[in-house]
Amino acid sequence: MAHIGTDISKAADLLRAGEAVAVPTETVYGLAANAFDEAAVLRIFTIKERPTFDPLIVHIAQRSDLHKVAQQVPASAEVLMDAFWPGPLTLVLPKRPEVPDLVTSGLDSVAVRMPAHPMMIELLGSLDFPLAAPSANPFGYISPTTAQHVADQLGEKVPYILDGGPCAVGVESTIIGWEPEGGGRWVLYRPGGITTEQIEVLVGPLGNSDKGPVPMAPGMMDSHYAPRKPFYVGDVPALMKRFAGRSIGVISFTTDHDAHRCEVLSESGDLAQAARNLFAVLRELDDSDCAVIIAEKFPEEGLGRAINDRLRRASAK
Ligand code: TXA
Ligand code: MG
Repeated sequence: MAHIGTDISKAADLLRAGEAVAVPTETVYGLAANAFDEAAVLRIFTIKERPTFDPLIVHIAQRSDLHKVAQQVPASAEVLMDAFWPGPLTLVLPKRPEVPDLVTSGLDSVAVRMPAHPMMIELLGSLDFPLAAPSANPFGYISPTTAQHVADQLGEKVPYILDGGPCAVGVESTIIGWEPEGGGRWVLYRPGGITTEQIEVLVGPLGNSDKGPVPMAPGMMDSHYAPRKPFYVGDVPALMKRFAGRSIGVISFTTDHDAHRCEVLSESGDLAQAARNLFAVLRELDDSDCAVIIAEKFPEEGLGRAINDRLRRASAK
């Protein structure tokens, strides 16, 4: 059984020895390894049963570490880092050749972020290499937002889970990519913890990922973040009628529906609180005695966009 604990130096020793360790971030828990050690990175893919065409995010301790993995950093990237780092914004930039192809799935770009969790920052600061880390869930399943979520699914496979408490943001980082062609522009690859509105105020409208050279990565693939139970997103009363007679679990933003189970993500209508609760509630209903899970669509603004993106992918067949 995996060991859950708060010993940062133990986590650092395991990482220096080439192991993969589960780590807390402000978004979701990650499964981390030395980004410059290909054998260590391979452990991540093996543990998660993740296909190697799905590239990883590289986590750095400080801005000055960016040049170790990326090159040609545009001025607008500095503006974004000033505003949102440390925090849930991942920048995809032209990569340095030192970054192993396994990390980037052979792409000539690398995804980088500086996470905001104090334990993760301390851990990164004690290492002389950055950490490649995807979310610490089996490939395609719901992302973990507590150390226990990681233990429940990967417990046997990881030597240590660093426990930093429940994640404050609850959905993954926003990923935007710098596409240098034609003067350059930022393209949205994945909505997440920093809203498009927040980014666009600083760097103008984001391009649409459909037009860009998007890798075939599960973060962008249709079916992802999925519970095992049948899961539907849309008009809750209509869906409840459709599944009448079965025990239904409902995930709602603010309204308490009369179902076998109903989880209200934020009674006050706060999207940040809803994002924080989303994955834990989805997991809870997946483990419950409900036969069907239904979720309503959230307002398509701010963090609602990231929530709707996860709901859509989690319910994709
Ligand atoms: O909040 C987060 O971002 C969490 C925590 C642990 O930092 N990490 C996370 O990683 O969500 P993961 O592996 O679940 O999602 C990484 C996604 C890939 O699926 C892919 O969509 C995108 O990042 N990505 C990575 N490298 C890329 C690249 N070079 N170009 C485009 N997309 C890339
Ligand atoms: Mg993931």
